[in-house]
Amino acid sequence: MPGISRGVIIRFTGVWTALLLFSSSLHGAEMPSEADPMAFSKAAAVVGKSHYLINCQQCHDADGRALANIDYIAADLTAPGSWYYGSSALHIFSSIKFGAGLEMPPFKAELSDEVIWQIVAHVLNIGPQASRPQQK
Ligand code: HEC
Repeated sequence: MPGISRGVIIRFTGVWTALLLFSSSLHGAEMPSEADPMAFSKAAAVVGKSHYLINCQQCHDADGRALANIDYIAADLTAPGSWYYGSSALHIFSSIKFGAGLEMPPFKAELSDEVIWQIVAHVLNIGPQASRPQQK
């Protein structure tokens, strides 16, 4: 190949591979691969409720139904069947940590993973009976 030597191409590929590995490991460190047991704990849900009232109430209302808020059309957190971004514990974690859609803000700078899992437990706890936390 005239102009570009093989060495340059190989070096280029190496940089890209390193960048890809680096960015995926960064994301991996932020996004857990499975739900924390806290998400299914009644005790965590109780603590999560107080964090919820501080951080989420202004848009989703105290009861999670987002009926009173007129500034944002926030999701009804008691009706996961109507959601867009998934309703598993891991999905809820991701929506809180990284945001969802254009108006749901990410909380990764404000809340620790532990607090986010506690809020996930609370959100599950105000949803359908079948998905409420069952463990102590
Ligand atoms: C500034 C207002 C605002 C705050 C604060 C806020 N949300 Fe939201 N949230 C929204 C809006 C608006 C949406 C809908 C986004 C969309 O559908 O595009 C949303 C969506 C969501 C979703 C995704 C629903 C779906 O369709 O999958 C979850 C889960 C959620 N919020 C939970 C929370 C929790 C828990 C908190 C507190 C940690 C919180 N939100 C704080 C406005 C907010």
